[in-house]
Amino acid sequence: MSIWHVTGGRPLRGSVRVQGSKNAVLPVIAASLLCPNETELINCPHLSDVEAAADILRHLGCRAARRDDTLTIDTTAPDRCDIPRELMHKMRSSVIFLGPMLARFGQAQVSVPGGCELGKRPIDLHLHALRLLGAEIREEEDAIVCRAAHLRGAEIPLALPSVGATENAMIAACAAEGTTVIYNAAREPEIGTLQEYLCALGAQVSGAGSPVICITGFSPRRQAGLRVPPDRIAAATWLCCAVCAGGEIELTGAAPEHLSPVLAALGKMGCAVAAGHDVIHIASYGRPGSPGAVVTRPYPGFPTDAAPLLMAAGLRSRGSAVFIENIFESRFRHAEEMTKLGADISLRGPLAMVNGVERLTGAGLTSPDLRGGAALVAAALGAEGETRINDPGHILRGYEDLDVRLRSLGADVWFE
Ligand code: UD1
Repeated sequence: MSIWHVTGGRPLRGSVRVQGSKNAVLPVIAASLLCPNETELINCPHLSDVEAAADILRHLGCRAARRDDTLTIDTTAPDRCDIPRELMHKMRSSVIFLGPMLARFGQAQVSVPGGCELGKRPIDLHLHALRLLGAEIREEEDAIVCRAAHLRGAEIPLALPSVGATENAMIAACAAEGTTVIYNAAREPEIGTLQEYLCALGAQVSGAGSPVICITGFSPRRQAGLRVPPDRIAAATWLCCAVCAGGEIELTGAAPEHLSPVLAALGKMGCAVAAGHDVIHIASYGRPGSPGAVVTRPYPGFPTDAAPLLMAAGLRSRGSAVFIENIFESRFRHAEEMTKLGADISLRGPLAMVNGVERLTGAGLTSPDLRGGAALVAAALGAEGETRINDPGHILRGYEDLDVRLRSLGADVWFE
C-alpha cells in the first residue's frame, strides 16, 4: 500500500514527455510468444503491469530483460503453457496470453481472470473468437483449458468491438491455416500497434483502425523490434492535471491525433489547447468552463479511461456536466472519494452529474482503481491543503514516475 501526499494550490508549469503506452505494449509482449524470436521494445514504460507481463513470459520459460527504456524479450525456448492464478491476478489483462499460447503450443491453461475494480470483466468474446479458429475450450471452476491441434482461418464477427478480444483473435489467427477476417473489430490505436508488431514478426495483417481486420499468412522471423507509441491516456492525465492545478504545460512525444475527443472537451471547457505534430500545449487559469455532456464510447469516441480524469478537471468548473459511461459498469468508484474533497457529484447508474464548486479542500481518500486513482491525484492538485490518498498499487500499474514528473512541473506530490 502506498500513501500519496498531495498539497494543492500550486500551478503547473513546464514540459513533460509522454510515456510509452501501457495498453499498446501489453498485447505486444504477449504476441512475442507467437514464434521463436528476439524482440526489442523501445520506449517501453516502467510500469508494474509491464513487469507482470514480463513475469508471465519468464514463468513460461522465456527471457525478458530491461535496459533503460528498452525491454528485450527472447521467446526461443518456452517450456510450459500454463499461467497460474497469482500471475493472472497480478495483471487482469493477462487473458491476452491465451491466443499466443494456443498459437505457439496448441494448448493453454490459465486461471479465470475474474471480475475487477471496474466490475464484471467477461471474456466470452475472446473464447468465442478462439473457438471459431478451431480451439476446444473447457471452462472449469477456476481454470480455462484450451486445445487446438490445428488452428484454421475463420470469419469472426464480434458482438462488441472488444479491444482484448480483437487482439487475442489477431494473434491466434497468425498461426491459423488460411485467411481470418475479424468483423466489428476494435479500432483503438493500440490495435494498429499490434498490427505493426505482428507484421514485423512476419505476419500478413491489414485493416487495423477499421472495423474489418484480415490475417492472411505468417512467415515467422527471428527478430523484431517496435517503438512503443505514446500513451494517450497518460497524455490525457497530464492535460487534466494542468486544468485541476491551473497553469501552463507542454507535452512532448505525444500523439494528438489519438486524443481528439479529449482535446475537444478541454477546448469546450475554455482551456487554451494547441497541438503540433507530437506536442500538445495547454494553458488554463482559474475555474474552467463545463465540458457539458461527456459520453464514453469505443474509439474514436471519448475514451472510458479518460472519463475520471476529465471529471477531476471539471470539479471546480463554472457549470454542470454529465458523464455517461457506456463501457464498464463500475467506472465511477472514484466519485464518492471526490465528494470528500467537497465535490458535488451525484450518481445514477451509468450517469454522473457534476455541479462545479468554487473550492475543494484536502481530505483522506482511497484510490479505487488505476484511472480513478490518478483522477484523485489530479483533483487533489486543485484542492486547498493536503490530501492523502491510500493506494494499493493501482496508480503504479499505469503511470511512470507520476510523482517525480508532477514535482518537476512544480506540484507538491510525494508518495511513500
Ligand atoms: C482495454 C483497455 C482498457 C480500456 C478498454 C476499453 C487494455 C489492457 N485495457 O480493456 O484500459 O478501458 O480496452 O477501451 O488494453 N466485453 C465482453 N466480453 C468480452 C470482452 C469484453 O462483454 O469477452 C465487454 C467488456 O465488459 C466491456 C466492453 O466489452 O464492457 C469493452 O471491453 P474491452 O474493449 O474488451 O476492454 P479490455 O480489452 O478489457
